[in-house]
Order: sequence, then C-alpha cells, then structure tokens
Amino acid sequence: MIHKQEEVDIEKRYCMPRNLVEKEIGNKILIISVDNANWIVLDNDIQKKIFYRLKEESIKEVIEYINVNNIEEKELINVLTQLEAKKFEDMNVSCSQKQGMCIYLTNECNLRCKHCYMFAGVKNEDELTTNEIYKLLGDFSNSGGKVVTFTGGEVTQRNDLYKILEFSKAKGLLNTVLTNGVKWSKDLIELSYKFIDEIQISIDGYDEKSNSNIRGRGNFEKSLNTAEEFFNKGVRVSIAVTPLYEGLNQNKDKYIQFGKHLIKKYSDGQFHLKFNYKLLRGREVDLNKEENDEYFKIMHEIVNKCYINSEKKDFVINHRDNTILNNCGYGEITVAANGDIYFCNRIYELKSYGNIRNLDFDKVMELSKKAQLLSNINNFKPCCDCELKYICGGGCRISNFPELIQINNFKCNIDPKSFKPRKCDQELKQKYYNLMIDTNEQFFK
Ligand SMILES: C[S@@+](CC[C@H](N)C(=O)[O-])C[C@H]1O[C@@H](n2cnc3c(N)ncnc32)[C@H](O)[C@@H]1O
Ligand code: SF4
Ligand code: SF4
Repeated sequence: MIHKQEEVDIEKRYCMPRNLVEKEIGNKILIISVDNANWIVLDNDIQKKIFYRLKEESIKEVIEYINVNNIEEKELINVLTQLEAKKFEDMNVSCSQKQGMCIYLTNECNLRCKHCYMFAGVKNEDELTTNEIYKLLGDFSNSGGKVVTFTGGEVTQRNDLYKILEFSKAKGLLNTVLTNGVKWSKDLIELSYKFIDEIQISIDGYDEKSNSNIRGRGNFEKSLNTAEEFFNKGVRVSIAVTPLYEGLNQNKDKYIQFGKHLIKKYSDGQFHLKFNYKLLRGREVDLNKEENDEYFKIMHEIVNKCYINSEKKDFVINHRDNTILNNCGYGEITVAANGDIYFCNRIYELKSYGNIRNLDFDKVMELSKKAQLLSNINNFKPCCDCELKYICGGGCRISNFPELIQINNFKCNIDPKSFKPRKCDQELKQKYYNLMIDTNEQFFK
C-alpha cells in the first residue's frame, strides 16, 4: 500500500539507474538498483510493465499507454510514488565507513573475565605514554579523523584516563569509552564525563550470581551504578552483554527480563542495550562454528524480544540516505597498548603492520586507506557479483575471508577474488529481501 503521493511533471522522462536486478519474492517484485543500494517493491505484473515503460518513455507517453490498455491509474501512481519518494534516480550515495580509530589504552585489567578475547590482566611492559597518546590523537585529528574508541584491558587502570579524554575532546574528536564499569569513583566520573560522548559498560549476567560467573564477584551492582551515574549526567550509555554459551538457552528468559527492565528504566534518555552476537576465542572459551551459530540465534531471539522490530529498525538506520555498506569497518586504524598498528580491532588474531613509534602517521593513514580499498566488497567472491552487495555489506572480513589475516602488506598484486569465496545461502539473501519489502515505505523521503 502506498500512502505518500508526490506531484510529478508529466513531461518527465526518468534517467533510471543502469544496474537493475529484478527478483520475484512471494507475490511481490523487487526492482533493485545495485549501485545505490535502493529498490522499489511492485505488487503485480502491470506495475512491472509500467516500470519498464518508464525506463524508456516519458510519463505522458506511459499515461497514454495505460489509457489505451484500460489499466487502472492507481497502478501508475503506485510506481511513480515509489520512484519519487525513494529518489530512485539519485545516484549520490553515502558510505557507511567513518573515520574511526580504536586505541587499546592498556592490557592491564582489574578483572579476569572467562571469555576475555584480549586475555587482559597484566600491563604490557612497553605501553604508550600519555604524551605518545596525545601525539597519536593530534595526528589522527589533523588527518581528518572523527571518532575514537578507547578500550583495553580496562581503561580505568590508567591514571591519565581523564586527561587523555580531555585532550581528545579538545582536538574535536568524539570519544567512546569501553569499560567494565567497576572502578569509576565519583571523582573520576566528575572529571571525565564532559569528555565522553558514549560510554559502553559491560555486564554479562542478569544478576550478581550469573555476572560473577563470568566477571568475578561483587561487580554487578558496581557496574550498574556506574551506568546510572553517567546516564544521570546526560552521557549516552550502552550496556554490552556478552554471556557465555553454556546455559544461555536455559537462561534466555532471564536475559530478556533483565534487558526489558533496563530499557524501561532508561527510556527517557540516551541508552542502548548491546547484546553481543558472537563469542570470539578467549581466555576460557573457544566455540566451534555450530556453537557460534546457535549462540547467534539465541542472542538474536533475546534482542528481538527486548527491542520489538529491532532488526527492521537497524536496517532502516543503516540504509538511510542511500547509505551503501561496502565494508565492515576493516581498514580503520586500531592501535594496541604497545603502539602496534592493526586495521581491525580483533588484534589477537592479526599480524601487526608496524608500530606507531616508528611509523610516520601519514604512512599509517596511507596503509589504512589501502586496507579499506583492499577489503572493499567488490574485491570478494561471491559478494562482488551479488545484487545485495551494498545492502548486506558482506559481513566481517576476518570471519568470512580469513586469508586476509595472512596479508602483511598491501601491495597491489593481492587479489582477494582468488580467496576462498565466503559461504552465503538463500536464507541470508531471503532475510534481506524480506527486510527490503517490509521496510520499503520507511525509506520514503
Ligand atoms: C575486551 S573488553 C575491554 C573493555 C572493558 N574491559 C570491558 O570489559 O568492557 C571489550 C568488550 O569485549 C567483550 N568481550 C570480551 N571477550 C569476548 C569474547 N571472547 N567474545 C566477544 N566479546 C568479548 C567484553 O565483554 C567487552 O564488552
Ligand atoms: S573483558 Fe574487559 S574487564 Fe574482562 S578481563 Fe577482558 S578487558 Fe578485563
Ligand atoms: S554475503 Fe551473500 S547476500 Fe551478502 S553480499 Fe555476499 S553474496 Fe550477497
């Protein structure tokens, strides 16, 4: 059903996108414009005929055609409304990739979580000094950087944390801080909150007992209190929940209850609950593919019960304004606590490309751009030939194209098309087709 109607000049002749793919999905017909991640949804063959005529003829000529053929006008109005409301001709696209940098400030941690993929605990001997981090932030900002994520280990183990955040903010950067939330004194919150745009606090259980099984005893309340303090100061707060696989299915209702409680409690401010969908290999966890698939399914169910229609809402947010997903974020700079450079934040699984202490920052940016180009979706099979490539994005490069991990330079003779193609099935594609049909009108501009 089309609600929105636009006024259109009947002399108009559309300049339709070149790369169009047609798919019959149930009783609908999807016309996908591959290059700008746009589409329209047609209800029947008459609308399809009208669409293809509009590709070649002016609206006036198509009106004559529908008059001669006794076609109801509403079929034409439906097609025109979509073409206009979705700006189907507009080939300007925005790219999902932002100029972000992730800094692991320390490997030191006050906790020893069972799942920790960083195996965090003890400080590295050669961690970056305050001044070295200032230089890094200054260089990043001067090179057009916009967003920094500070993580670890545990960031509050560094006494210079609030100074680093203050410096970063003064350089015009947006600061996101990932923390276990246990060690934030009132003084530290007071000193830091103005410089934090988003704080993500990890709480992996739904009560003290379940949380202590992963994160140690006595931390559940402390982390919740820290979240509350920041929330009350107007900082955007996320609570990240990464349960263990064992017992998850039996306890999913408790996670749902916990999630709903938090969402309700913080409904009048900037709050987001982030359930993790994947458990990486960590201190005491190492799931096989089947277990991770099962983990994904259960977490998906939990999220959908906590946030009604969350998948559709996220889909709409991700594709607003002709946003194309051509990468997963691979290529953005990640700096380890000792200054080693990576282009993905799963640093434990990757080789470093050098150290910030020895590399000119311009060189780091150049490598980052090369990494982004190399990991562009158009370089990988089967995604490069898929009509959904900019809608799906191809997923995590490290998980789906593990050969990328072996690359230790970005010479132009590397051809990711020679890598083993990623697995993709009709179920994944069908999920996107359904999302496109169900959310179509939410993209009307
Ligand atoms: C490594 S921690 C560092 C920041 C901080 N210490 C904390 O715990 O939030 C960053 C995030 O990674 C999550 N994490 C740890 N181990 C993980 C694993 N094996 N798989 C997926 N996420 C994991 C944590 O739960 C946390 O939300
Ligand atoms: S997940 Fe965070 S809090 Fe837990 S051990 Fe790792 S770094 Fe520390
Ligand atoms: S993962 Fe599948 S749906 Fe996504 S872009 Fe690749 S081939 Fe297309």
